[in-house]
Amino acid sequence: MANYRRRRWRDAMTVHLDLNGALAATVGADGLEPGDLEELAPRLQSIRADLVTRRTAGELGFADLPQRRDDVRKVVQTAAAVRGEFDTLVVLGIGGSALGARALTLGVAAPGEPFRVVVVDSIDPDAFAGLLAQLDLKRTLFNVISKSGETPETMAQFLVVRDHLLHQLGAVDYKRHILVTTDANEGAMRQIVHDEGFRDLTIPSGVSGRFSVLSSVGLFPAAAAGVDVEELIAGAAHMDARSRAAESAMADPSLVLGGVLWLLGARRQKSIVVSMPYSERLVATVDWFCQLWAESLGKATDLQGRPVEWAQTPVRAVGTADQHSQLQLWVEGPRDKVVLFLRVEDHGTTADVPAAYTDLESVGYLGGRELGELLNAEQRATELALGKRGRPSLTLGLPAVNAFTLGQVLYLMEWATIAAAELIGVDAFGQPGVEEGKRLAYGLMGRAGFEARREEVEEWLARKNPQFIV
Ligand code: PA5
Repeated sequence: MANYRRRRWRDAMTVHLDLNGALAATVGADGLEPGDLEELAPRLQSIRADLVTRRTAGELGFADLPQRRDDVRKVVQTAAAVRGEFDTLVVLGIGGSALGARALTLGVAAPGEPFRVVVVDSIDPDAFAGLLAQLDLKRTLFNVISKSGETPETMAQFLVVRDHLLHQLGAVDYKRHILVTTDANEGAMRQIVHDEGFRDLTIPSGVSGRFSVLSSVGLFPAAAAGVDVEELIAGAAHMDARSRAAESAMADPSLVLGGVLWLLGARRQKSIVVSMPYSERLVATVDWFCQLWAESLGKATDLQGRPVEWAQTPVRAVGTADQHSQLQLWVEGPRDKVVLFLRVEDHGTTADVPAAYTDLESVGYLGGRELGELLNAEQRATELALGKRGRPSLTLGLPAVNAFTLGQVLYLMEWATIAAAELIGVDAFGQPGVEEGKRLAYGLMGRAGFEARREEVEEWLARKNPQFIV
């Protein structure tokens, strides 16, 4: 029986959020007072009720992904077939169509896994040509992922790869090397799938880019990389069950994470959220969270059309490297940050530090200790170093990094972001600020219908004063 079916294992693998480092009782004036939490509680409670209604109405498509058993089964079957045919999967996508896949594959791919998954979200010509040159095309499958089916970076990657495959493998064989993940009905990629007969997976209609990690977008690359996606989904479902069973909103870790981060921003001017994992396996998860938080919350207007232009800027850091890089600024610089630690109790692998130079006290004390022990000691030390200077932090504790705990973390972070959006009063979905950049790029690249955008860019360039180009 799979571990995640055992209640004791699930309990032992439950992720917890520790708020102590954010309380005034711990860090003083920049922390939260009981009154702040009392203010938050009824607001979160009514948001919780509102979210139940929105979920039931089908407005929160991401929330029910753990229940879409057929989709998971299809992903598992497709991945099993692909693993028999190929030994490399190259994911072509960007933003929400890349970061989730990377978080999963770098986070919990089986150790020593021979099947390689590479997520390519760059159109840097050097890097892209370099990658294509080193691939054994006969053993490579390309997974083109795009919800809209028209994002220029992904479409350009697809066109380059398709041409390359056509030339190298011929007009018959090349099709076997492309698998498209896109909307079930809409967009140019769906049209291309119909016309060409490529293999495909669908993204459910109510699920958008940065909230799609638990759909075929993230699950297929993960399954191809040997991740147990059933366990991952069980982790998300476990977090969902905890949230639903929570006595109040203040006992639901997802809502509390969003609520407390918002409170520290709105009431303590913490305009920057630093996410700092103490595990290399969680670095890509933090990249994913930074995009989720930024693109969901940074909006010009609220749901009533009133100006907002307020959200906390996410910053990614890595423990312990950034203790020797950014920490000085966090401890003594502007009091504008809250740090969200991701702490892992059991790193899985043990790496003992051998005893040597015992006569040198500054080196000898490390002998007989363990690298994971040092890593976790550094995390605690950093938490306290911040706290002693009145700088707030939160700690998300993972008993271990595995598919089950990562499923919990991803799902928790999605809900936390939604809760923060509700508190700010903005629509977490949609990204109008990104769209304008896309339209200007279309104009510059000569897409029909965007000629006025091209002129706009040209006029803007013509207005540049050479005097100020030094
Ligand atoms: O989160 C989002 O919606 C965006 O980051 C998109 O994922 C990104 O722009 C890519 O879009 P698409 O999947 O349509 O190619």
